[in-house]
Amino acid sequence: MRESLVLVGFMGAGKSTVGRMAAQRLNAAFIDSDAVIEARAGKRISQIFAEDGEAAFRALERATIADLVREPDAVIATGGGAFVDPNTRELLNRTSVTAYLRAPFDVLWNRIAHGTERPLLSGDDPRGRLAALFESRIASYEQARIVVDATLPAPQVVEELLHKYHECTREQASK
Ligand code: S3P
Repeated sequence: MRESLVLVGFMGAGKSTVGRMAAQRLNAAFIDSDAVIEARAGKRISQIFAEDGEAAFRALERATIADLVREPDAVIATGGGAFVDPNTRELLNRTSVTAYLRAPFDVLWNRIAHGTERPLLSGDDPRGRLAALFESRIASYEQARIVVDATLPAPQVVEELLHKYHECTREQASK
């Protein structure tokens, strides 16, 4: 049994893409927490935000992730706000190998600017608002157990991620 690998970081960091590839390499299940939240709620994230509000989404997110980490041996991609919650952060760092996919805001913005699914992009001055949100979250993301450079192409991010994950689980085993 291995500790689950949990990917954290801002929107556009590549958590789902990299997570799916890493899971294949580890022969582990891949779980996308946003997809589980949508299945539980029976509606899209954008609809949850619009109909129930962000606070309701965060409560669902907290509860869903608490359930997901009970499963070992999985690669879990979390939504960009999940690791900002202090209780979720503490739980994830205690039970799993957490990995921050780190990239500068401009890189992330270029990847997400044209999408239509993300509710936090709607409204005035999305770039300015998201830049401020990103700044406010960095200190939380940096508390992940490992950090990888997410500006590289996904296959290279996966290599670095797996290398650090194995290092981390070896260290754990020898303690
Ligand atoms: C959010 C990120 C989204 C999703 C929701 C809120 C955030 O996930 O959970 O729209 O607060 O950063 P991704 O990071 O997968 O886009």
